[in-house]
Amino acid sequence: MDAQTAIAQVKSKHAETPFLRWAGGKRWLVPEILKLVENVRLDGYHEPFLGGGSVFFALRPGGQVRLSDLNMDLITVYRRVRDNPSGVADRLARYENTSDCYYAARAAKPTTDDDLAARFVYLNHTSYNGIYRVNLKGEYNVPYGNRTNTRIPDRAWLEEVSKRLQGVELQGRSFEISLGDVKEGDLVFLDPPYTVAHNNNGFVKYNQHLFSFEDQKLLAKSIKEISERGANFILTNAAHKSIDELFSPLGRKITVARRNVIGGVNASRGRADEYVFTNIGAK
Ligand SMILES: C[S@@+](CC[C@H](N)C(=O)[O-])C[C@H]1O[C@@H](n2cnc3c(N)ncnc32)[C@H](O)[C@@H]1O
Repeated sequence: MDAQTAIAQVKSKHAETPFLRWAGGKRWLVPEILKLVENVRLDGYHEPFLGGGSVFFALRPGGQVRLSDLNMDLITVYRRVRDNPSGVADRLARYENTSDCYYAARAAKPTTDDDLAARFVYLNHTSYNGIYRVNLKGEYNVPYGNRTNTRIPDRAWLEEVSKRLQGVELQGRSFEISLGDVKEGDLVFLDPPYTVAHNNNGFVKYNQHLFSFEDQKLLAKSIKEISERGANFILTNAAHKSIDELFSPLGRKITVARRNVIGGVNASRGRADEYVFTNIGAK
């Protein structure tokens, strides 16, 4: 099946929108990616840095779909929404968008996976910035957002997401393990945390420790392997020399501009560049 066939004709209200807010979410890049994958072979689909899953929801891939992320709680949310949307909706309906309710939910320790899923979705939509951040004890510690225009998913939305996730494999694990499942004819979309190497005065410094530059190197090696296996890949990454050098040998590079970025060190006049690397159309 090619991607054009896979992009279903039936469009419903929420079916293409992520049900979570996610830092680094790629909704803005979706039109570019849909253009890239037109007429591309899509026997199976993999997204090993799932987050809010913007590309999965927009693409509506057919065939075997495998989604994964290192964040196990996030994967539990997807699994419970897939398997018990109304149970999650019932629990979600008990929360209110108030500071008292938020801090009580934040302090609570969920005892079941359905409780965990509802609490996660609630905190995600009512928190300050939707970033998933935990302290050294692993406790979620983002402050209340005071947001008036929240879009906390209702029962109908969760049921729609559940339909989209039927038959989808969901795993809490690191990308290099997930990429072991990739086969010839599959499409892989990769959106890792952005880490770059700075070379100041001969010392290489990294801007993030959670996803290190060593991880970026392992990612490049793993992408080379899936490419040699005959899979198509699309990788998004930071527009930085160190990233260019690492990934350019693997395919062609497209520079994309994200507009209307508010603030941020790299944002200038509402425009920030990012790189997309792909082997589609590169042969
Ligand atoms: C930029 S976000 C993905 C955003 C997603 N494309 C979207 O549109 O919402 C990167 C994700 O990678 C996950 N992650 C970090 N390190 C990872 C690793 N080693 N293996 C797999 N996932 C990882 C994070 O938990 C995060 O959800």
